[in-house]
Amino acid sequence: MNNNDQPSIHGQWSSRLAFVMAATGSAVGLGNIWKFPYITGENGGSAFVLFYVLCVATLGIPLMMAEVMLGRRGKRTPINAMRALAAETGTSQHWQFIGWSGTLAGVLILSYYSVIGGWTIGYIFHAANGHFSDLSGKGASTLFGDFVGDPWVQIGWHTVFMLITMSIVARGVRHGLEKAVTYLMPALVVLLLVVLGYAMTTGYFMKGLAFLFTPDFSHFSGTSALTALGHAFFTLSLGMGAIMIYGSYVPQKISIAGTSVAIAVADTMVALIAGMAIFPIVFANALEPGAGPSLIFETIPVAFGHMAGGTLFGTLFFVLLLIAAWTSSISLVEPAVTMMIENLNMTRHRAAFWTGLVTWLLGLGTTFSFNVWADVEVLGLTFFEHLDFLTSNLMLPIGGICIALFAGWAMSKHVSRAELNMNSDVGYALWHALIRVIAPIAVSIVLLHAVGAF
Ligand code: PFF
Repeated sequence: MNNNDQPSIHGQWSSRLAFVMAATGSAVGLGNIWKFPYITGENGGSAFVLFYVLCVATLGIPLMMAEVMLGRRGKRTPINAMRALAAETGTSQHWQFIGWSGTLAGVLILSYYSVIGGWTIGYIFHAANGHFSDLSGKGASTLFGDFVGDPWVQIGWHTVFMLITMSIVARGVRHGLEKAVTYLMPALVVLLLVVLGYAMTTGYFMKGLAFLFTPDFSHFSGTSALTALGHAFFTLSLGMGAIMIYGSYVPQKISIAGTSVAIAVADTMVALIAGMAIFPIVFANALEPGAGPSLIFETIPVAFGHMAGGTLFGTLFFVLLLIAAWTSSISLVEPAVTMMIENLNMTRHRAAFWTGLVTWLLGLGTTFSFNVWADVEVLGLTFFEHLDFLTSNLMLPIGGICIALFAGWAMSKHVSRAELNMNSDVGYALWHALIRVIAPIAVSIVLLHAVGAF
């Protein structure tokens, strides 16, 4: 049953470039600019960065190729794509687990992603109202503390973020996505470079670089390794079917390998630039590298507060960050929405409404994690931290292993070879070895080590 020639019922990208842009839009988001710097700070810097880059190169790229390939061949929502591919390969229907777990992970991640997306909306207004002017590190911490401390403000911006995301999803993901990514993502990078320029003037630029790039394994633990691995999946949108569903809209043969490498390189560059821009500001203002999720909201305002035109640039920065967050968030719910359309016969509007409602409700737990529930911890973690750990550190890596196993063992070499259509025999053999043996073993070792199995 190879339905490879039929387009997905949800539509197709207009071109190869549209797919590349959408996948890049999914990959580049809050993960690069908000999460990467703060988890790097929490995990001691350089060794974490090194391990993360290694994971992107050796596991992320081959897995992205596998996901695009499965999506393009399955041409359905991840659950049904896996069912169809299991039938085609004559393997167990249990493989559809990949689709279920991924669909759920997307909803869980979006529930907190929307809250942080809401922070960026709130900060657009702080920036536009000149609240960053001459801000000190301490002033920025207070501004952020007051902002997240108010649960109603949090719920308000979370609601706005969710409404806008779901209204885009309700119309079909392709509307506007291509333009947003083609013009606005590069604009965001330019503004990051502006912050980087400011970071160079702080006198702490070299200290920032040393923190990120001079190997130091003294703060690196098993949990750090798992966090770096989980983040490699998170930042590339892997292990949950988002890239699979985008792959299912790919119209013709594209170079899956070349595209995956390009997306991974672009994504990593954005994260590294964000890190290089932020840590000098952290050190110059006596802020804590391990401050946690507040980190960029305490540093970027200081940078814009001290430059000419900072109100305008600061506002623009948070607008562009918001757009980067949207282009990612729509891919987080696309598996759930297409599942409801295909399996429950719903219209896209209805599916978007219900997914949005459930995700919004779940997001309330995260809004409270920063104020009224800030001290409510189970096993030492807040609601938000549990959600993040469960999704990034468990669900995505486990989903990734299963995808690798399916592509490496269930699918015949003959089929994967034809789908990937690689020119180089060595390249294909390397991919196959990585996906079939190395990725599953490496991910299992990191997972088991982090949970204390050895
Ligand atoms: N890659 C996105 C980011 O770095 O912000 C987050 C994300 C999007 C994760 C889509 C997973 C996903 F399926």
